[in-house]
Amino acid sequence: MATTALQGLEVLYTRQQIAERVAEMGAEITRDLKGEKLVMVGVLKGAAPFLSDLARAVQVDATFDFVAVSSYGKGHRTSGAVKLIKDLDETVEGKNVLIVEDILDTGLTLSYLRKLMLNQKPKTLRIAALLDKPSRRIEKIDADYVGFSIPNLFVIGYGMDYAERYRNLPDICLMTPDHPE
Ligand code: XMP
Ligand code: MG
Repeated sequence: MATTALQGLEVLYTRQQIAERVAEMGAEITRDLKGEKLVMVGVLKGAAPFLSDLARAVQVDATFDFVAVSSYGKGHRTSGAVKLIKDLDETVEGKNVLIVEDILDTGLTLSYLRKLMLNQKPKTLRIAALLDKPSRRIEKIDADYVGFSIPNLFVIGYGMDYAERYRNLPDICLMTPDHPE
């Protein structure tokens, strides 16, 4: 398996594979939106690189907004409770919304965000998740667009972190339990 020169970490998806898949997702979203306007709502911080690339792959008139929720903190575990840390800057009432998230895991985060945004009565609401771990699902929720479906692995890079580190790795890498912190 390929490794990154930077850390000697195992690569799960290379930057080229990510770019190809994001381009395909962008084309699909472009088709589905058919000339409509779009608000892309990024979930901070992990989705930032994905949103940045996906936004340039969709050929629609798009604006950005961002939300932040409490997440994994300093380790692998989630508490189960989702707390809003940063709300939308503007209401999405009557808008076409695309929530852009790095990983759909237990589904708690996206279920919470979906409910939050549906309360504002958007015209349409869709979800794009770069990665999906369907085996971990607690809340019943699917993304409309999924980059890659993966087994229960902890991944880092391309926005994803371990204790806030590794977000700037250009490839998606595996966080192996024996990796030195
Ligand atoms: P769920 O769906 O469980 O997802 O509410 C909550 C958040 O967990 C993060 N997550 C990960 N972050 N590597 C990461 O860096 C992972 O393997 C991983 N799995 C879940 C993700 O940010 C999501 O927003
Ligand atoms: Mg996240």
